Amino acid sequence: MKNNEVLRVENLSKFYGNRAAVQGLNFCVHQGEIFGFLGANGAGKSTTMKVITGLARQTNGKVFIDGQNLAKDFRGCIAKVGAMIETPQFYPYLTGYQNLKFYARLYKNVTKGKILEIANLVGLRGRIHDKVKTYSLGMKQRLGIAQALLNDPKLLVLDEPTNGLDANGIREIKMFLTKIAKTKGVAIMISSHILSIMESLCDTICIIENGRLTEMRTLDEIKKACNKFGSHYVRTDKPNYAGMLIQEKFGVKVGVTKSKVLFNSNAKQLAEIIVYLTKNNVPIYGAGEVDYSLEDAYLDIIGTSADVG
Ligand SMILES: Nc1ncnc2c1ncn2[C@@H]1O[C@H](COP(=O)(O)OP(=O)(O)OP(=O)(O)O)[C@@H](O)[C@H]1O
Ligand SMILES: [Mg+2]
Repeated sequence: MKNNEVLRVENLSKFYGNRAAVQGLNFCVHQGEIFGFLGANGAGKSTTMKVITGLARQTNGKVFIDGQNLAKDFRGCIAKVGAMIETPQFYPYLTGYQNLKFYARLYKNVTKGKILEIANLVGLRGRIHDKVKTYSLGMKQRLGIAQALLNDPKLLVLDEPTNGLDANGIREIKMFLTKIAKTKGVAIMISSHILSIMESLCDTICIIENGRLTEMRTLDEIKKACNKFGSHYVRTDKPNYAGMLIQEKFGVKVGVTKSKVLFNSNAKQLAEIIVYLTKNNVPIYGAGEVDYSLEDAYLDIIGTSADVG
């Protein structure tokens, strides 16, 4: 184990009946790292997070937290983990503060001052003594994040924590997560479908498709890898055919993704390429200079099928 490794997942699989929700996952999250977990609906993100946080049991494989095997030292491991998976559940007739106090009993030494400090951190100070049934969706989400922080975790696992948060809430949580990762060294594993949030927050991006890991690199590496084929692109549903035509006619090297053809070009030649492809019945849905966002890279990697896994 590298000494700054907080989470290690080895060959992890989880079956529901004979259907695999996740299969053969291997990855690590280090101290101070913000690890973004991406994947389509049903890809297996929440399942993986549930296994890591002890809410579900794996079918195969191992999870190590701070060097300890979760299956062998469950309590010791879980004491180091803070988590919010899917929608957090609270007692509606208790106040936010009473709910946090209830969860705080699971841990040692969580004082009243500490609970209020965390409520403050997540922007709930003004409403923490109101009943949870009077909270909005975003307020419940903030309370969920507060609950995940009660035990000063070494590993924070947040499944779509920005769900329901307003623009301010998103900005606050991004600032706050970056701060605890970079100043306190907390390792953070986070999932979100909002790729712009992931792009501005994460150091590492891990993509799972149908329960299998298909990409794991730093954000910069992912963007560079998608950029390597050239300065310009055309987007089409016939990328292979279009790539062949461009290569033949214009003599340029092309890169083909699931939805794009990329090549080194200039604006004038791009216009000629578009005309040529159109003449050859290749539908073009977009074209231009390459300026990759995480969203572009993600869609190139997983394709644009709308079917859930
Ligand atoms: N309790 C369960 N029983 C049976 N199948 C399940 C159960 N929980 C999840 N699954 C299945 O496991 C697969 C992965 O689901 P999971 O909830 O992990 O996906 P996800 O990546 O979190 O998706 P989303 O983006 O929609 O939250 C899906 O095919 C899902 O139907
Ligand atoms: Mg999920």
